[in-house]
Amino acid sequence: MEYVYLTQDIKERIDKYLERFPVKEQAVIQSLHLIYSKYRDITLEHMQELSDYLQVPLAHIEGIVSFYDMFRVKRNARHHIRVCKNLPCHIMGCKKLLELFEKLTGEKANEESKNGRFYIETVECIGSCSVAPAFMIDDDLYDGTKINEGKLNEILSKYT
Ligand code: FES
Repeated sequence: MEYVYLTQDIKERIDKYLERFPVKEQAVIQSLHLIYSKYRDITLEHMQELSDYLQVPLAHIEGIVSFYDMFRVKRNARHHIRVCKNLPCHIMGCKKLLELFEKLTGEKANEESKNGRFYIETVECIGSCSVAPAFMIDDDLYDGTKINEGKLNEILSKYT
């Protein structure tokens, strides 16, 4: 197979995972992270190439991608905002934070992006409860403890 999306760099990094993990399936999640961070999305073509390269069934990879929020395939915007909605973040005000995001971006959470700049998604715990209400924009994790409208606006302005 000729790889379009699995660049030399990605393949070399996958090879390193393969050296580390005795079972090829164990390299799938790490490999998906590599693909996601480069393309900001996981498409069927990405999964087909990865399946071929790792010699792991496509269905196995599709199962992982559909299970984990972080590999959500429905992104349609340049930047992906994730707001945690689990209990600790709920208690610390994630609902208000979400409303602020919707106000400042003009987008609705969990709906297709209208202007193609931001897609807002509510997600399960992102492992950062100490900075609840935690949120991420692309790969950047933010401390939501002292966020106000001005600060959030400033943060959003970095993502064009
Ligand atoms: S509950 Fe929100 S980051 Fe853990």
